[in-house]
Amino acid sequence: MWPILKSRHFGIEPATPTVRPLRRRSVWFCLALLVPSAGVSIQAAGLQNQFGAPPTRQEPITPIPQPPAADARKVALGERLFGDHRLSHDGTLSCLSCHDLHTNGTGGKRGTRAAGGPDPLFDTLTIFNAALSFRLNWEGNFRTLEAQTQSSLENSANLNTNVDEVLGKLNADPKMVDEFRDAYDHAPDGTSLLDAIATYERSLLTPGSRFDLWLQGDPTALNAEELAGYGLFKSLGCVSCHQGVNVGGNLYERHGIFHPLASPKPEILRVPSLRNVAVTAPYFQDGSAATLDDAVRKMGAAQLDLALSDQQIQAIVAFLRTLTGTYRGVPLVAASP
Ligand code: HEC
Ligand code: HEC
Repeated sequence: MWPILKSRHFGIEPATPTVRPLRRRSVWFCLALLVPSAGVSIQAAGLQNQFGAPPTRQEPITPIPQPPAADARKVALGERLFGDHRLSHDGTLSCLSCHDLHTNGTGGKRGTRAAGGPDPLFDTLTIFNAALSFRLNWEGNFRTLEAQTQSSLENSANLNTNVDEVLGKLNADPKMVDEFRDAYDHAPDGTSLLDAIATYERSLLTPGSRFDLWLQGDPTALNAEELAGYGLFKSLGCVSCHQGVNVGGNLYERHGIFHPLASPKPEILRVPSLRNVAVTAPYFQDGSAATLDDAVRKMGAAQLDLALSDQQIQAIVAFLRTLTGTYRGVPLVAASP
């Protein structure tokens, strides 16, 4: 048995979000707080940051850190499990089938699903940097990677199995049992299965984007258009929702505040992270925006009641493209559609 997670709470932990009903006034209020401090620190940063000093810019976005220290055996075991088809009921899918780590941590299209399962409700989120968001999934209905993993196993649109079924298969494989003994001192059980996958997921961070290099004090990392785009991102109010280390992933918000956006339900979403957003098309919970230009234009209208000019969109998109980070030293790329 795996006592921690199998409870009646599982899977439908009610989101009791601290939703801030966002009106235009509150956007400006947030900006009033954010922008002046940012402006001052940019100037200050110009004076410091010699000789590879630590992050110097006080901005509403912080750099992606290096992955946390972890037991290498657990990370390696988690990586193996992430690609193991025994994690699906009929042996056809693994986590990797939908979260492609060789490209962008998701895939190029919406709708990979378990054989015979229903269509997934949502566009696949990237697995990269998921560990840095305060809640998981579009609705933000999971607090821990372990609980989210259990849900991925049990969801009939995902892997359509359950922890006990997976453990039965793993315990029948002497090599797997050895690997668990090595990492956890005992044969596979529910807690170690979920822990290995979650430990691996915590290693899936993408530091080193050009924007982060700029945050860390390299003034040459961004060009004038990209900086102008970041300026707009702050001054127009995007940053009031998309902020923090993941440029999102730390708030619940309504969508379609001023004009309808994507599927009206669910009304409240965890604001998605914009890390690596240039390589994770399509956009929105239902994948209804094919390009980043389109997504930015719709966001301006839906969330801020702004008709952005083509030039503004181009600059914001140029900024968003600087958020693409690296995994194992290699920049992320888009998946083929
Ligand atoms: C059939 C496709 C599919 C498979 C297989 C799959 N996922 Fe996902 N994954 C998704 C979709 C779709 C979402 C978005 C779900 C939602 O928001 O409700 C998602 C979301 C996630 C998230 C949340 C990311 C975030 O930013 O909040 C994590 C973490 C995750 N999956 C991990 C896993 C793990 C671990 C496995 C294997 C045990 C797995 N997934 C298997 C499709 C899949
Ligand atoms: C009031 C909060 C809020 C504001 C302001 C806001 N966004 Fe968003 N943003 C969201 C939410 C919520 C979603 C998810 C919408 C959906 O999927 O239906 C989102 C989604 C996005 C996406 C798609 C991400 C993905 O992976 O699918 C992009 C790109 C984006 N926003 C950019 C911007 C830009 C640029 C601005 C400023 C012009 C902005 N946002 C302003 C809340 C906000």
